[in-house]
Amino acid sequence: MRAKDIRAKAGEEPVTMLTAYDAPTARIVDEAGTDVVLVGDSMGNLRLGHDSTLPVTVDEMASATAAVARVVEDAFVLADMPFLSFGADEAAAIENCGRMVKEAGADGVKLECGPHTVDLTRRLTQLGVPVQAHLGLTPQHENETGLFRQGTEEETAQEILDLAREHEDAGAFSLVLEHVPANLGAAVTDAIDIPTIGIGAGPDCDGQVLTVDEVVGLTEGAAPFSKRFGDVRGEMERAVGDYLDAVESGEFPADEHSYVEDELDDLY
Ligand code: KIV
Ligand code: NA
Repeated sequence: MRAKDIRAKAGEEPVTMLTAYDAPTARIVDEAGTDVVLVGDSMGNLRLGHDSTLPVTVDEMASATAAVARVVEDAFVLADMPFLSFGADEAAAIENCGRMVKEAGADGVKLECGPHTVDLTRRLTQLGVPVQAHLGLTPQHENETGLFRQGTEEETAQEILDLAREHEDAGAFSLVLEHVPANLGAAVTDAIDIPTIGIGAGPDCDGQVLTVDEVVGLTEGAAPFSKRFGDVRGEMERAVGDYLDAVESGEFPADEHSYVEDELDDLY
């Protein structure tokens, strides 16, 4: 899958996107047929034990992206650029984004956007690094905005609409809209030709994205705009509990889990 194939889906077919942070999960998500596998910086909260995405490093993202890219065969592999890895200095940003493609094997990068990412989006696209823009709730700004619904007032909604157009003009191949009112999601989708991919942005976006941890039920709950489609956490708790019980009761390992070497019978 290439950026142009995803771009071409706008208004035609829903774009599907899910996160993965490791090879086995990426294989499952890819084989299920998702269009985009996002190695999200949500890994910070969901897998690395942080309580925000801010501490996630370029090295950590590159390592997870490489694990995902090694096994994905069909989907577009998208690396999420972590906090402060872009936006300050263009050369440093291009080097960090370039690492995800050259070293880790990503097909493109996602940037949490603002006025500071328009030129960078244009430059990266010109250089051959496809960019997915991300507007609305941008968790890397949580110290500034909190993790609240964005674009609820006319002024901020207009700003999101304007930034969506500017990033489309700059060459972004798609746009994530996170936690904005459904009518703003619909308005942005109407206003631009590249696909909008919503997370808590209503049903009218061109596609949808969720974290795989929430979809499979690895997390305890799910964000209000999200949905658990499984109970992997419950299944892991059951399996781990059963294993501990079996060791404590002596039921495991059984004969079939061990082997005996006859030659050793004379030992001692
Ligand atoms: O990090 C992430 O998982 C994301 C998606 C939720 C869009 O940015
Ligand atoms: Na993210």
